[in-house]
Amino acid sequence: MDFEQLSFKLREFYLLEVYQLSLFRDQIPSLPDEYTAFAFERMTELEQRHVDFFAEKMHELGISKPEIADSTFSFAGFVSAKALDLLSLKERYQLGIAVESKAAEMYYEFIKMAEGDQQLVRMLWHQRTDEEFHKFWFRANLEKIELEEKLQRV
Ligand SMILES: [Fe+2]
Ligand SMILES: [Fe+2]
Repeated sequence: MDFEQLSFKLREFYLLEVYQLSLFRDQIPSLPDEYTAFAFERMTELEQRHVDFFAEKMHELGISKPEIADSTFSFAGFVSAKALDLLSLKERYQLGIAVESKAAEMYYEFIKMAEGDQQLVRMLWHQRTDEEFHKFWFRANLEKIELEEKLQRV
């Protein structure tokens, strides 16, 4: 991977992480209970660490940070942060799964490109694992709601 490719990927992932951070942070005030709110708060903390990692890496290499345009908030075609309050809990979990799956997939691509840079590869794997943990949390809680709905129908 040459410097130009690395620079492109770091800027892209910085935006990916800013999107995830905003996505979870913006939902906290409209979450229904402590269980969900504190889980989102924790996810927000981890996304902030991901943002900081890419920001520091760009700073270290003298790469300018990308503009955080409105387009970030529809990253990969997902919902705008402004519409989040209107989502049901089930839809929030589905959105979380979709975003985290996409992020994990993107990390995998970046990891393959970063081959040879052990330090970067290690950080990318760690952060990819965080995204998977988030995905599993959303999935487990979505399944819980779906099971409750099923039980209500019988
Ligand atoms: Fe992240
Ligand atoms: Fe995540």
